[in-house]
Amino acid sequence: MRRAVCPGSFDPVTNGHVDVITRVAALYDELVVAVLVNPGKAGLFTVDERMELLREAVAELPNVVVDSFSGLLVDYCRSHDIPVVVKGLRAVGDFEYELQMAQMNRELAGVETLFVPTAPQVGHLSSSLVKQIATFGGDVSRLVPEGVLDRLLAKREAS
Ligand code: PNS
Repeated sequence: MRRAVCPGSFDPVTNGHVDVITRVAALYDELVVAVLVNPGKAGLFTVDERMELLREAVAELPNVVVDSFSGLLVDYCRSHDIPVVVKGLRAVGDFEYELQMAQMNRELAGVETLFVPTAPQVGHLSSSLVKQIATFGGDVSRLVPEGVLDRLLAKREAS
């Protein structure tokens, strides 16, 4: 079985992530979307919430599995028998850091990284910008899946 992993913080998942996940899922038998558990960094959404939002967003993609991981990505890959990491690249700004991580992951464990250019319509999206805009009452309805929009609005009302 050909498997790959798309790792990330996904706090929260955006339409940019969904674009990459959808296109990569079409290339593999199974695609694991893995949410990083980072105890040192509290997000807007808990890891369980992020996974739930991801599951809703990819509900129509039968070969996509949502999971979480802590520690090194290469250890997750090794223990789940996944040889390939796939990352979306928005612009050159992403490239330098992503290249460094890709080279390190290959050195550490022989895990390969493939890069997918995001669709131009979503190339400007990031979870951080979405959170910032939503916090100050801006309209993010075209930037995130419906479930995420509902949860962002609920969080705003609660605060
Ligand atoms: O969505 P993000 O925050 O850009 O995702 C970054 C992520 C989770 C892919 C990256 O931080 C990662 O792989 N973290 C796990 C820890 C690890 O393996 N670090 C060494 C990288 S060479």
